[in-house]
Amino acid sequence: QREDNDRFTRLIEAQEAAAEHFVENLRRHPQAVDYLKQRGLTGAIARDYRLGFALEAWDDLSQVLSGRFNEEELQTAGLTSRKEGGRPFDRFRGRIMFPIRDPRGRTVGFGGRLLGPGEPKYLNTPETPVFHKGQQLYGLYEARKAAPRLEELLVVEGYMDVIALAQFGLRNAVATLGTATTRDHLERLFRVVSRVVFCFDGDAAGGKAAWRALEQALPTLRDGREVRFLFLPEGEDPDTLIRQEGPEGVQARIQAAQPLSDALLEGLRRRHDMASREGRAALGTEAAKLLSTMPEGLLRSQIIGDIARLSGVSTEQFERRMGAPGSTAT
Ligand code: UTP
Ligand code: MN
Ligand code: MN
Ligand code: MN
Ligand code: MN
Repeated sequence: QREDNDRFTRLIEAQEAAAEHFVENLRRHPQAVDYLKQRGLTGAIARDYRLGFALEAWDDLSQVLSGRFNEEELQTAGLTSRKEGGRPFDRFRGRIMFPIRDPRGRTVGFGGRLLGPGEPKYLNTPETPVFHKGQQLYGLYEARKAAPRLEELLVVEGYMDVIALAQFGLRNAVATLGTATTRDHLERLFRVVSRVVFCFDGDAAGGKAAWRALEQALPTLRDGREVRFLFLPEGEDPDTLIRQEGPEGVQARIQAAQPLSDALLEGLRRRHDMASREGRAALGTEAAKLLSTMPEGLLRSQIIGDIARLSGVSTEQFERRMGAPGSTAT
């Protein structure tokens, strides 16, 4: 236990030291600063989010940290990689660095964006003993710091979306790290606020991500919790939108975001052929599976009534198809 704690602390110290070095690099490399300027970011917001730069070099960070951390530690921290039999090299090279902080503000990992074209555009820290990608919400620490009493959190896709929104005063956005929204993410969000608004990119992937988030949200919808969806115009993401429409425009869209129940009914209708009995029955079957995951409550009862009507059966027939609350319809 004691040894685990020491090890944990060492790994966090390595991340912190790396973050500090990346900030130092940014200060010294105008091409990285120019990139951020060209993306419309101010120096102030870059400081708030502790943005940095990883040089286009194989061992810049390894060299700097080698006095304080051994090879094995840097490797376990996900700061270096090595190929079978080769020497370790810096994992992040030629990238703008976004430190990912845990709820206590400790840097536990990074996202890194290439300055220019290339693949992959974004690279994250791999799973480490202190970094679990599927659990992290980028920007949550910063959001809570900016406003200790948050009412609502916005979930967006990217690092740049979080930061662009924050720069225009919408300091309550967080992002999953390129992973699909999980129930665990939702439980973490609902520990902080009672309303969550999903705002994914206006493209096919964003639409899919929204449906997946809806499925994950259903089991978490206890009384008093609310989920909404903001669908962006085709081709836009929150970063591009706020630069076009300003914070007022985006705020107005957030105000008008679609309640989960509407998104659910609309999504189901879109996914099935409402003109045939077969299609309406299939809608009922899909809805039964989804609704059986939802906690009991008035909202659930209302939705059940609407779905029964849509699929052309009585509420009783639909409920029988659904089985008991919390059980999974087959
Ligand atoms: P996007 O491609 O929408 O990123 O991916 P973005 O933030 O809009 O990128 P730019 O900088 O404006 O062009 C959304 C998120 O998906 C993850 C990252 O977390 C990114 O912020 N992602 C994306 C990856 O992990 N790897 C990738 O290669 C691309
Ligand atoms: Mn762990
Ligand atoms: Mn996208
Ligand atoms: Mn973008
Ligand atoms: Mn995007």
